[in-house]
Amino acid sequence: MTKRTVTDLDVAGKRVIVRVDFNVPLKDGVITDDNRIKGALPTIKYLVENNAKVILMSHLGKVNHKDAEKTEADKAKNNMAPVAVRLQELLPETKVTFVPVTRGAQLEEAVADMKDGDIVLMQNTRYEVGESKNDDNLASYWASLGDLFVTDAFGSVHRAHASTVGIAHHLPSALGFLVEKEVKFLSEAIYSPKRPFVAILGGAKVSDKINVIENLLDVADKVIVGGGMAYTFYKAMGLEIGTSLVEMDRIDVAKAIIEKAGDKLILPVDNVVAKAFAPDAEHFVAAEDAMPADMMGLDIGPKSIELFKKELEGAKTVVWNGPMGVFEFPAFAKGTLEVCKAITELPDVLSVIGGGDSAAAAIQLGFKDQITHISTGGGASLEFMEGKELPGIAAIQDK
Ligand code: 3PG
Repeated sequence: MTKRTVTDLDVAGKRVIVRVDFNVPLKDGVITDDNRIKGALPTIKYLVENNAKVILMSHLGKVNHKDAEKTEADKAKNNMAPVAVRLQELLPETKVTFVPVTRGAQLEEAVADMKDGDIVLMQNTRYEVGESKNDDNLASYWASLGDLFVTDAFGSVHRAHASTVGIAHHLPSALGFLVEKEVKFLSEAIYSPKRPFVAILGGAKVSDKINVIENLLDVADKVIVGGGMAYTFYKAMGLEIGTSLVEMDRIDVAKAIIEKAGDKLILPVDNVVAKAFAPDAEHFVAAEDAMPADMMGLDIGPKSIELFKKELEGAKTVVWNGPMGVFEFPAFAKGTLEVCKAITELPDVLSVIGGGDSAAAAIQLGFKDQITHISTGGGASLEFMEGKELPGIAAIQDK
């Protein structure tokens, strides 16, 4: 069914609550990557230009509510104030008011004082213990602050929380432009791909991606696996993996996947190995069946890069999630860089990067504008690729 989008709503003069995902990385209170804030700007600008009063809500980091001391430390660390400063910089013509609380008179007065076209950004939704529990009293309180609800928090649509799902049950609702765009590209890739369709998966853990691999084996023509998780597959094949990352409790799953996949599954044929997990570790290339017992794989090797490029040739749809190695260390970034480059060089391809580390890698390596779509969702895009229904989207009204 088709969901309502923000253009289906009559927003002029209305208080529109927009759930955004402003869960941005912070280092000493400074935002190190503002892509998620920028991602929500089209919806925010549309609402401002159409004379809505825009009330923004987002979580930031995690807040432990089980131990009072930790709660206070997490709140201090995950204060939304720097995000409001950045948002005001990005929207210099618009009045952005930060409200440092999540309920009560100060919040209600700030909302009551809003003029059409103003923005209020509320404090981190996770300051409230009821947020992650999808507490309905909290959801209905937040809903009472607005007339309409728009979700533009693609990164959080896999969470059934008070500000993502609960609130949608109390107000007329719609998707924002970012969620609409994310769903369009991810659906096109997963549900109606132009073929050949090649999926590339990497990252440290098989356990995070079992369901994604299984679903992609059903829908893709090839599934390339690199990164730390490849060594669990090697182990399942009886290969020596030295001191590489491995999930012993996932060997059976890896075996079952290998059997089911047949020649659809492509694994690295060589690896860059080192004795230590360090940026300056001495390193060598070792074939898949010659990994030294005292070394760990930290990147795919040159033959694997060639193999993966060959498998990508002619692809019309590519989905990529997870780096091929420890790309944060330049000595072990080549596999990720070359695979990313190979994707951008494919003619007429729909290329989608599913959030998290691979999105960061593509942006950091300078390929941002050469990829059709880089998702702002980590967990959310993985769950989408698993073929799961996302509660934050399901809760929105149909057209
Ligand atoms: C993310 O960073 O993937 C989203 O913002 C969701 O965050 P969470 O995993 O803390 O719910």
